[in-house]
Amino acid sequence: MLDSASNHPELPPEIARRRTFAIISHPDAGKTTLTEKFLLYGGAIQMAGQVRAKGEARRTRSDFMQMEKDRGISVSASAMSFDFSGFRFNLVDTPGHSDFSEDTYRTLTAVDAAVMVIDGAKGVESQTQKLFEVCRLRDLPILTFCNKMDRESRDTFEIIDEIQQNLAIDVTPASWPIGVGREFIGCYDMLRDRLELMDRADRNKVAESIEINGLDDPKLAEHVPEHLLEQLLEEVEMARELLPALDPQSVLEGHMTPIWFGSAINSFGVKELMDGIGAYGPEPQPQSAQPRQVAPEEKKVAGFVFKVQANMDPKHRDRVAFVRMASGHFKRGMKLTHVRTKKPMAISNPVLFLASDRELAEEAWAGDIIGIPNHGQLRIGDTLTEGEEIRVTGIPSFAPELLQGVRAGDPMKAKHLEKALMQFAEEGAAKVFKPSIGSGFIVGVVGQLQFEVLASRIEIEYGLPVRFEASQFTSARWVSGERAAVDKFTNANKQHIAHDHDGDVVYLTRLQWDIDRVVRDYPDLKLTATKEMMV
Ligand code: G4P
Repeated sequence: MLDSASNHPELPPEIARRRTFAIISHPDAGKTTLTEKFLLYGGAIQMAGQVRAKGEARRTRSDFMQMEKDRGISVSASAMSFDFSGFRFNLVDTPGHSDFSEDTYRTLTAVDAAVMVIDGAKGVESQTQKLFEVCRLRDLPILTFCNKMDRESRDTFEIIDEIQQNLAIDVTPASWPIGVGREFIGCYDMLRDRLELMDRADRNKVAESIEINGLDDPKLAEHVPEHLLEQLLEEVEMARELLPALDPQSVLEGHMTPIWFGSAINSFGVKELMDGIGAYGPEPQPQSAQPRQVAPEEKKVAGFVFKVQANMDPKHRDRVAFVRMASGHFKRGMKLTHVRTKKPMAISNPVLFLASDRELAEEAWAGDIIGIPNHGQLRIGDTLTEGEEIRVTGIPSFAPELLQGVRAGDPMKAKHLEKALMQFAEEGAAKVFKPSIGSGFIVGVVGQLQFEVLASRIEIEYGLPVRFEASQFTSARWVSGERAAVDKFTNANKQHIAHDHDGDVVYLTRLQWDIDRVVRDYPDLKLTATKEMMV
């Protein structure tokens, strides 16, 4: 076992053994492959290749993501649970494209740590950097996996230096690669003084560990060719001199990232990374909420919705709300209070996502992610408790930066379009505004690609070809204030008024000047670029 740091010694063991994390990476760095290997070691799948195969199968079923295949991006997120070495890992998948940052931000509110995967030949790429910044906002601990070491890669010091420079975080090597490209034979485990050798012949084979007694051990020479050994000794000595030693507390605080080198496709380095997540990835953390924080060890159950996914199974038109358990020990069938509506909800069919299949969750502990099928009652940001009025905070809502009009190809299908759009609005996939004057809808998103995804989903899930077109508006502001003041304002500005999917009033315009004017002329009103998720 590795020495770990616990910032919460009083946690019940079932909670303390949970590790809830996400993988952040630039497309193509190896996130899917690494996930596959996690599941392989976690015993969730028998054979590598199934995640991809099943993922493809699911996609062709709901097939909204033809684009995902075409463009090689991952836009649908899910959660997976598996056991490894006494730990329960909950891996929350993050969408991989920058246009989906809304979803990504929210996903990252549900995890306690992130694994950053980089390609050894490419280093820190744009998307990694962006996602890293999001993690930093939350001070999430980050563990780094430098992948594809079986290919020509950059010099190890250069990679580490680039991470330190670009991301402003201390990097400590948890392992050190031996040889590069074709000559790469494995790693020296800096934390356990072991030699891990890669098996190139069998990609699914767990690497062989060779215990050695420090770098002077003559056993090293039996396994490492002379020229590589010389280089290894020199580099490790330099690394120990120049780079900071592992400080588990600093990792927990998000100031230091340990880096493992490996090759996901060759199953190499993955086990060490998983051991590392167990040892240095934090146990479930307290959740910020109003009027008080929720601690994971509290007896009573609390959880919050961080994602809603509709039409996971097109046959059922269901929605699944992904809930991060924040405290307590949940059991299937429990009645929880839906704090926003103050209504009780019997949670009778919660699902756990084991590998890519859903399974009924009989129980869940703080840190777990469960899916709750529902007909739309559960929305992003909602809290479920055993009665206490707690509302989670920190789940961001984003200002729509791009607005477009949308029409059904067949005007007779306007009602269907409305239904589809409302559903996506509730999922948090877009903001949908219905102008007071005229027909049609205006959709607001953060990134251009979201329009294409929406068009594709509406066509596939609702059989409705749609057209997005330029809108006369470019900005949206939510309007709040006393009822009479809002009414007066909407009556005087009808051509600019719309309602969102909750029926809240929104002011649409293309000029900042208009917004300034409203602020000046209607001092009783508040105009905001985002709407808090919580009601
Ligand atoms: P992503 O989810 O981050 O986008 O990456 P993914 O795992 O799909 O990996 C991207 C490509 O990199 C894949 O190749 C994958 O096989 C390859 N790859 C992943 N890990 C390693 C590694 O350790 N070494 C090497 N050499 N390659 C690796 P592809 O050709 O795009 O797909 P495929 O035909 O292999 O499935």
